[in-house]
Amino acid sequence: MSERPCIEVRAVSKTFRNDGRVVQALADVSFTARSGEFVTIIGPSGSGKSTLFNLITGLTEPDTGEILIDGRPVRRDTGLVGLMPQRDLLLPWRTVLNNVILGPELDGVSKRAARRRAREMMPLFGLAGFENAYPDTLSGGMRQRAALLRTFLTDRDILLLDEPFGPLDALTRRELQRWLLDIWHRFRKTILFITHDVEEAVYLADRVLVISARPGRIVKELTVDLPRPRSSISLLSEDLRRLEAELLEALEVNGPASAPARDERNPNGS
Ligand SMILES: Nc1ncnc2c1ncn2[C@@H]1O[C@H](COP(=O)(O)OP(=O)(O)OP(=O)(O)O)[C@@H](O)[C@H]1O
Ligand SMILES: [Mg+2]
Repeated sequence: MSERPCIEVRAVSKTFRNDGRVVQALADVSFTARSGEFVTIIGPSGSGKSTLFNLITGLTEPDTGEILIDGRPVRRDTGLVGLMPQRDLLLPWRTVLNNVILGPELDGVSKRAARRRAREMMPLFGLAGFENAYPDTLSGGMRQRAALLRTFLTDRDILLLDEPFGPLDALTRRELQRWLLDIWHRFRKTILFITHDVEEAVYLADRVLVISARPGRIVKELTVDLPRPRSSISLLSEDLRRLEAELLEALEVNGPASAPARDERNPNGS
């Protein structure tokens, strides 16, 4: 198999300036992801996670630092990264089928070819029979699967999934986690996956990155050496609970509540 793209984020910082208000979203963020790796990212709200994804897709540029994909600086038109944004952004006036072919359509693939491929993939995404349904007639889980299918059909080697299961109930979430692992295994994509859920972060990942409260920095990298394929049994394992505890601790130490106090007492604190 040929060498697949890998992501290198090098010393990236990003500050937003709006109406005189200055918000530093990310500070000196560095990490890499190997081809085919499943990396989850967890951190408090407002810590720059979605910003990081916008930088990796080339939608936004970093102030300092650089991002390489497959050894080359990222550009908006690199065509290697598919993003599933935090809000599903399904177009209410388009059917499921016409929503999921948006990516290929924008890439100039003929509508006919795009539809054919989308129809093939519908059953795998649990959407068979719903091709002509409109988004607001779908369940929450189906909407998320449709949004995932749309990202998937962009046919990129790298998928950035921004809290794809955030709005779902625990049972649906569990089902979709298992299903996503299956898809990932079959198609060997490189996945970066943002979540607020500690258990989800560990269960899915080869590696977890913990990002601190704003400005976001990577404060911990945790390798998850649990065997695959993972199942519901994996969720009961002591190893998983131990990793979860480690993550929780890193989040508590670097979370929003303790950050200002720590800065006052220890200006040089890490
Ligand atoms: N386009 C923008 N203009 C100005 N400020 C922005 C912009 N995008 C993000 N920010 C600010 O940058 C910070 C980080 O935002 P971001 O959306 O990346 O956080 P997040 O970690 O994804 O949060 P959440 O977990 O709530 O989704 C926030 O303070 C946000 O207000
Ligand atoms: Mg976000």
